[in-house]
Amino acid sequence: MSYSDSRLYVALDLPSVSEAENLVKVLGDSVSSYKIGLQLLPIGGVEFGQRLKAQGKQVFYDFKLHDIGATVEKATRSIAGLGADLLTVHARPDVMQSAVIGRGESSLKLLGVTVLTSLDQAALGAIGYHDDAMTLVMRRVEQSVEAGMDGVVSSPLEAAAIRAVVPDDFLIVTPGVRMPGGEAGDQKRIATPGDALKSGASHLVVGRPISAAKDPRQAALNILDNMTS
Ligand code: C5P
Repeated sequence: MSYSDSRLYVALDLPSVSEAENLVKVLGDSVSSYKIGLQLLPIGGVEFGQRLKAQGKQVFYDFKLHDIGATVEKATRSIAGLGADLLTVHARPDVMQSAVIGRGESSLKLLGVTVLTSLDQAALGAIGYHDDAMTLVMRRVEQSVEAGMDGVVSSPLEAAAIRAVVPDDFLIVTPGVRMPGGEAGDQKRIATPGDALKSGASHLVVGRPISAAKDPRQAALNILDNMTS
């Protein structure tokens, strides 16, 4: 029997493809969706993602693209050609419009990274943003919808406010997911899997609570259980 739920993306934030391969093997049929990010992408993560696709898994390349329009368009076209399911770009209107053109008719879904959860008010002010984080998030959500993006990445604590203003099929992908009593690590704005989904998240990204667990498969099963509680 398969327990997997494609809404759960496990972040393969590991130092090598062989460690990521081991984790995927241990998780077996409990997990069907994986996120490959900046740590693994430059060292074989793209090819590994293609192998996961060949096994029938969903693959999310977390490139967080941010460059001039022409470059974002061409990069998105290259990534769309890999057959990936999800790709992140920063939620700036010009970047998103270019990504939408680059994606073309492919099935690649595009997510806008609104405001990195590592940026607090002081950090935003230092960059020159004078709006508070929530105002900035909501403006970028609106711009994501306008640009024709498929969804955004957000903190689970922003999901309800976003869900209230976006189309029903708009994706809201939330990291910062922790089990009750679990270690938060460096995540500041967290919610349980079930609460994140109830707040309007369509997909969850979970890394260390699974990858650093003594029994990663059991940790994934506990999260899957909490998602439906
Ligand atoms: O280990 P943990 O569950 O905190 O991993 C969360 C994953 O989501 C990491 O890959 C991290 O890079 C990513 N992420 C995040 N916060 C964001 C965007 C992405 O934690 N705002």
